Amino acid sequence: MSKRPFTLAEGQPVSDPSVSTTLPVYGSGGITTLGDTLLIETLAHFNRERIPERVVHAKAAGAWGEFEVTNDISSLTSAKFLNGVGKKTPVLFRLSTTGGEKGSADTVRDVRGFSVKFYTEEGNHDIVGNHIPVFFVRDPVRFPSLNRSHKKHPATNRPDWTMFWDFHVNQPESVHALMHLFGSRGIPDSIRRVTGFGVHTFKLVAADGRFRYCKFHFRPTQSITHFSGQEATRLAGANADFHNQDLWDAISRGQFPVWKLYVQVMEPEQAETYGRALFDITKVWPHKDFPLIEVGKMSLNKNPANYFAEIEQAAFSPSNMVPGIAMTPDPMLQARMFAYPDAQRYRLGVNYTQLPSNRAICPVYAPFERDGMATMTRNYGGDPNYVRSTLSPGSPSQIISDVRHTERIERNASLGQNEILVDDEDYIQPRELWNKVFDEAEKRQWVANVSQTLEDVPVQLREAVTAMFSKVDPRIGQLMVSKASTNAHL
Ligand code: HEM
Repeated sequence: MSKRPFTLAEGQPVSDPSVSTTLPVYGSGGITTLGDTLLIETLAHFNRERIPERVVHAKAAGAWGEFEVTNDISSLTSAKFLNGVGKKTPVLFRLSTTGGEKGSADTVRDVRGFSVKFYTEEGNHDIVGNHIPVFFVRDPVRFPSLNRSHKKHPATNRPDWTMFWDFHVNQPESVHALMHLFGSRGIPDSIRRVTGFGVHTFKLVAADGRFRYCKFHFRPTQSITHFSGQEATRLAGANADFHNQDLWDAISRGQFPVWKLYVQVMEPEQAETYGRALFDITKVWPHKDFPLIEVGKMSLNKNPANYFAEIEQAAFSPSNMVPGIAMTPDPMLQARMFAYPDAQRYRLGVNYTQLPSNRAICPVYAPFERDGMATMTRNYGGDPNYVRSTLSPGSPSQIISDVRHTERIERNASLGQNEILVDDEDYIQPRELWNKVFDEAEKRQWVANVSQTLEDVPVQLREAVTAMFSKVDPRIGQLMVSKASTNAHL
């Protein structure tokens, strides 16, 4: 590394940044002064080093990479980054736990966030998904409560299983996500081998304006593996940043992790009679009905040169969509489209889109969003800052297809409460997971994983949890009861 002279932040030379200036007195004492800009700048900047951490998904690893189309889907979408075999697009990837703070351990049982920013010629497209295919709630107003119940208790400042289960037994639409969370996938052993699900239903819009509903899936090319609870707990103490290290070291060694991207596609005609699993993110679309269609592969090939600048300041949002991919009437998705940029304006400032990780690689001309704290661009110079000006150099963009709201509003629809009551349908997919996907060993481990969390929970709540899972399959309840009595005898 070539040497360069130290300076202050505005370039003035500094002879030694490790020595402040004092007016010496006897002994080794001295009087510091407001005139010591080096000292003041150093202390003042240190005091402002922290920015608000993400309110959820605060602990993460990240890396740069590339996406390459391996199967042309231009008949499904006009999105240029998904068209033409061999087409390459740079990406930024971030993999997080959900509940823990920025300094928390990697190897905990939790849902992993799976974020990818594609820097396309039509602007940034983000997939901000999870490593399990379903989510806990389907009404966005419950999201803050869901997360509070998984985080620390307001009095004890510790995670609290009573709070956790109290939330879930009263919002049992989460039962499907809980089945996944307490299965072996709940503790991945490496970031390089996790699945990534877009979870929501989106629209793919073709150049001719036809649309289909779709779901996005990333699958690692290596097989999916996990830690035992014991090993994960040991590592959480021995190396709290285990997953960060594993990803970093693999990329440094040139062992670049690879995922394949797939879509599931549903025709709008099918959708009209498909029922609520169409937009309900507590449900999956079965692969046998909607097979995976390969789209491309993503590989991660470069570690960040600076974690704070590149990963902490990254701003992923489901609202970042390019033409050819559109939103749907999933209230969770729409709420997220508000929540992320809102969180980022708070966390990173109103001009966060100008930060290197968030900057589009295509030309950006948004002269009606200017000024504000920390403007880093030339701020559109003297261009008109009001719309409809004949003096403006701006011109309408040619958008091939933009199908936002194609769904018919129900006849006689009226504004009302969104609650979709939990009924038998909510237990069907969790039951299939239990009966068709979990083998006997997985079933027993699942019961052990849940039972462990119930040991200090009040009896009534424990019974409510057992009752909730018994609705998935009565055998779960029986196993939980027998596990509880074994634990009580130990
Ligand atoms: C109404 C529901 C939801 C709300 C209001 C919400 C809100 C948020 C907020 C405010 C952040 C922090 C963003 C930031 O500071 O940059 C965040 C992060 C995140 N959320 Fe959600 N979320 C919701 C549901 C979901 C769902 C369903 C998924 C997965 C499909 C998800 C995945 C993520 C991920 C991966 C991150 C981390 C993004 C990153 O890597 O920076 N969230 N969420």
